[in-house]
Amino acid sequence: MQIKRISHIAVATSDSEQSRVLYEDILGLNNSGSELVKREEVNTHFFELGESSIEILEPLSEDSPVGKFLKKRGPGLHHIALEVEGLDAYVIKLKAAGIHLLSEEPQLGAHRMRIIFIHPKSAGGVLVELCEKV
Ligand code: CO
Repeated sequence: MQIKRISHIAVATSDSEQSRVLYEDILGLNNSGSELVKREEVNTHFFELGESSIEILEPLSEDSPVGKFLKKRGPGLHHIALEVEGLDAYVIKLKAAGIHLLSEEPQLGAHRMRIIFIHPKSAGGVLVELCEKV
């Protein structure tokens, strides 16, 4: 059981091209491509930053989770993700401590990671993702 690194910082926007110009063209980060997460109806765009990345979330529909987030809160920080070793043990520990999770069990996310989210109300108002390589 160990926290490895900040995996990514995720930003929700309906204008991924604006973010691409900023992070790739102007700031010079390596654009490592995009991945569609069908279950969440979201397109994810990754920009590498050391051992971490910035992940741009662009919803495919207004009714998707990120689409609803944009409607309610506007574009902005969506979540931070911490890569861990021993995700299932962390889930048990979090539940035992009464931490509110968005799902009962980890699910498959982008980049072949198993992920689970800690609810913002248990984390200072920030959605926190824990992820582990499959
Ligand atoms: Co994420």
